[in-house]
Amino acid sequence: MNTDLEMTVNGFKTILKAEPYENLRDLLRKSGYTSVKKGCDVGGCGACTVLANDKPVYSCCVLAAWADGKTIVTLEGLAKDGKLDPIQRTFMEKGAAQCGFCTPGFIMVSKYVVEHKPNATEAEVRKALGGNLCRCTGYVKIVEAVMAAKEQGLK
Ligand code: FES
Ligand code: FES
Repeated sequence: MNTDLEMTVNGFKTILKAEPYENLRDLLRKSGYTSVKKGCDVGGCGACTVLANDKPVYSCCVLAAWADGKTIVTLEGLAKDGKLDPIQRTFMEKGAAQCGFCTPGFIMVSKYVVEHKPNATEAEVRKALGGNLCRCTGYVKIVEAVMAAKEQGLK
């Protein structure tokens, strides 16, 4: 039986219908937020990372019902008025994406780092991104993009 869950997704209050054992990732994807990627299913890749009440969360590892009443942000919610979020821009400028499958998850955790750890060193940025895997880039450009966003004071 479906349950109605009320949450704010990307700034809009919404009611999403979830199956009892559905995880948040699958609920978001079926509701149209397809930036939330289905990678490993077990909390090992970070491709499904979203912000929940402003903190990065592996959405495959929490029940959809856990998000009831919470504020969720996915990649779709970052650009405003046709303008990319600054962290999206530095990812583009630094060429931090190749196939792009991991990119939404990386951008969500990077946004958290830029906003909440503005003084993080490169080593601390690498540690903060350590829960997200990329099979293409070798991580160098991803880290450069986050450092650039921090150095430019972008929020
Ligand atoms: S799909 Fe959620 S951590 Fe891999
Ligand atoms: S850009 Fe391909 S997995 Fe990261």
